[in-house]
Amino acid sequence: HLPKIYVTRKIPADGMKILNQSGLHCSCKSWMGHPPIYRESLLKGIRNLIYCLLSDKINKYINKSIGPNLKIVSTMSVGYDHVSLEELKKRGIRLGYTPDVLTDAVAELTIALLLTTSRRLIEAVDEAKNGGWGTWKPLWMCGYQLSQSTVGILGLGRIEGVAVAERLKPFGIKKFIYSDIAPLPEIAAKIQAEYVPLDVLARESDFLTVCCALTPETQSICNKHLFSKMKPTSVFINTSRGGVVNQDDLYQALVSGQIAAAGLDVTVPEPLPTDHPLFKLKNCVILPHIASATLSTRNAMAALAANNLLAGLKGEPMPKELRL
Ligand code: GLV
Ligand code: GLV
Repeated sequence: HLPKIYVTRKIPADGMKILNQSGLHCSCKSWMGHPPIYRESLLKGIRNLIYCLLSDKINKYINKSIGPNLKIVSTMSVGYDHVSLEELKKRGIRLGYTPDVLTDAVAELTIALLLTTSRRLIEAVDEAKNGGWGTWKPLWMCGYQLSQSTVGILGLGRIEGVAVAERLKPFGIKKFIYSDIAPLPEIAAKIQAEYVPLDVLARESDFLTVCCALTPETQSICNKHLFSKMKPTSVFINTSRGGVVNQDDLYQALVSGQIAAAGLDVTVPEPLPTDHPLFKLKNCVILPHIASATLSTRNAMAALAANNLLAGLKGEPMPKELRL
């Protein structure tokens, strides 16, 4: 019988067009409802192929329930920490993902979030609107400046770190430093970044931006030990995954003035409950995981995920396949 593609959520038009026009005998059944797909619907819907999002957990439980028919998982995301690679490998299931096409959008948002946080833009807009302006005051709303600063990048293995550094360079950065599992001289040469141990990264960075993937090694890597070494004038930015940060430790660091401010595009959980203490802090800017959210990038991601899936269906190499 015909392979069935299950698309877990309404996706951008370019992706749907490719699936619909593939000429393959596949039935596309997608969840168009507004709230994220419920586990039961996902389980009922999956047959052979699944086109999923980073909000769908593809783990042991789901694989067990689907049985042996699942052959291809295509995630419309660069991150794949929501997918159990071990489980896929065990079952010979192939995994497509969407690196590269979102790099520009993510880098642009990272810069926007960095400037919003360091120049206190949300706070300033509120003050202007709500009567706090009063008069021009020399010491009011002072933030932190990029020119002559040291920028630290945590994780240079993924292309996002370089893309962020390239965009920051024209601001007159004094020095780029980075930490990773090991030095990455070829990548670092592109931005003249110096490899340093994590504690030096924390100590020297005026701006510390997290660009690493979430793995067992990076889980909660940004914790009280790291924050305690950072400058009280430093700005912390995370556009990778919430799990790399211990949020309780970050909260303490922000409240106690161990660091100046934080800008987060990712949290644990997502969405972050509206009554979360981090939302109460003026020196914490929280975005709802929108780094790749431009129309052109989301369409490119949707199309790449569709092409990955169709290539997998035909038994061909995927345009972007993760080697398991
Ligand atoms: C975004 O966070 C992605 O993984 O695509
Ligand atoms: C700023 O607007 C200044 O005139 O100093």
